[in-house]
Amino acid sequence: MSKAPKIVFVCQECGSQSPKWLGRCGDCGAWNSLVEERVQPNDAASGAAAGHRYALTGAAGAARLYSDIALEQHPRLTTGIDEFDRVLGGGIVPGSLVLLGGEPGIGKSTLLLQAAANMARGGPVLYSSGEESEHQIKSRGERLSVGGAPLYLLAETCLERILEEIARIRPALVIVDSVQTIFSTKFQSAPGSIGQVREAATQLLFTAKGQNIPTFLVGHVTKDGSLAGPKALEHVVDTVLYFEGERHHSHRVVRAVKNRFGAVSELGVFEMTSSGLRPVPNPSKMFLAERPTGAPGSAVLCSVEGSRPILVEVQALVSSSTYGTARRMASGIDSQRLSLLLAVLEKRAGLNLIGDDVFVNVAGGMTVDEPASDLGVLAAIASSVRNRVIPATTAMFGEVGLAGEVRGITQSSLRVREASQMGFRRCIMPEANIEPDARLKGLRSRVEGDCELVGVRTVGEALEAALG
Ligand code: TYD
Ligand code: MG
Repeated sequence: MSKAPKIVFVCQECGSQSPKWLGRCGDCGAWNSLVEERVQPNDAASGAAAGHRYALTGAAGAARLYSDIALEQHPRLTTGIDEFDRVLGGGIVPGSLVLLGGEPGIGKSTLLLQAAANMARGGPVLYSSGEESEHQIKSRGERLSVGGAPLYLLAETCLERILEEIARIRPALVIVDSVQTIFSTKFQSAPGSIGQVREAATQLLFTAKGQNIPTFLVGHVTKDGSLAGPKALEHVVDTVLYFEGERHHSHRVVRAVKNRFGAVSELGVFEMTSSGLRPVPNPSKMFLAERPTGAPGSAVLCSVEGSRPILVEVQALVSSSTYGTARRMASGIDSQRLSLLLAVLEKRAGLNLIGDDVFVNVAGGMTVDEPASDLGVLAAIASSVRNRVIPATTAMFGEVGLAGEVRGITQSSLRVREASQMGFRRCIMPEANIEPDARLKGLRSRVEGDCELVGVRTVGEALEAALG
């Protein structure tokens, strides 16, 4: 005999449940985030009571000895798009569940349709969309010149129907666009609510692991940039990728923020063209393409994202404020970090910035959040204040401490190599990163190839080296 459904109120931010409606979630403190959901008691969906549902493979239940488990080395599947394979850690791992998040219109569906079309050459692929009709997907596919390989399209929002089709077609790859549009008939809450999203992700996880079908989920992001609804989703999946980029720029960056099978913060760079997303094999070249020459306030910093060094230009403009309070604006770097660097500049390098507006921008809409980018940001600001140009062939990297010291950073040789390859002749870098044997000989700088490496210990020395 089935029992009456139980009503619970579920916070859409953190997933906590409450028996009655509250204006504010007691767990995470979010306002107006509780939504009514009905659950069937003892229903398969209600967690621990249905432990068997959580078995990922057929032979579940008994614990096995570590030494008895055979090491399985599955070759990775290539998506046919180099940059996409790179963020995934070298291709798709069989049976993995990947979440691709990003703002609307940034190119999630485009990228996955391109990957689906490539993958279909090796076996059937199911592209299930709850957002577009088959005709819409087809007309997009025509722009992307999708070939005649077995690519199945399904315009469906019902989870159970999607699972049926997976069982019928037995595809080599499944794409579900987007996880917020699908619903399970087991729940009465609306698609996109935390219960529905979690159920969809969990069911697709079992299919992915149980039948070894790699699955991509598209996830929407909210205004504040987090994945809509559940953070919980990020724990369920193996890999979380985010699409970044600005609408006004044609380039797009896909970044891995979680990856069970590869490096995090690995990134792939693409350019949106009239025939889909095109991989950009040399991002430094693209980010430096429109660099002004001979202009104060521009510095080139060398940051490392995942395993890849990227040179980006950071621009600063310091002008005296016409209003009472000075404005500080940062785009592409953390604004807290900017405040800190400004304080260091004032206190340790003797620059007077009180009453000045400071604007800092990383050109090309790129975001750098590595401490190694400090030196570049600082030099760009000083260059603007003193109205002196940093030579066009000088690049820099290094972390700046509160005492005005320049600290050593990781992967310095990778950065130097990239700068040298991109035609830079001088690298201003932490002295600690100059090779020990050179330092033993008392040398503060060293020449590598045709690039001079200048080691600095303090912000003052760095500015002296950059601005002369
Ligand atoms: P889309 O993949 O639909 O974004 P999402 O799924 O993340 O919402 O991307 C749509 C945008 O990309 C749209 O503004 C049009 C543009 N676009 C191109 O510039 N060239 C193309 O070949 C395609 C298919 C889309
Ligand atoms: Mg889309």
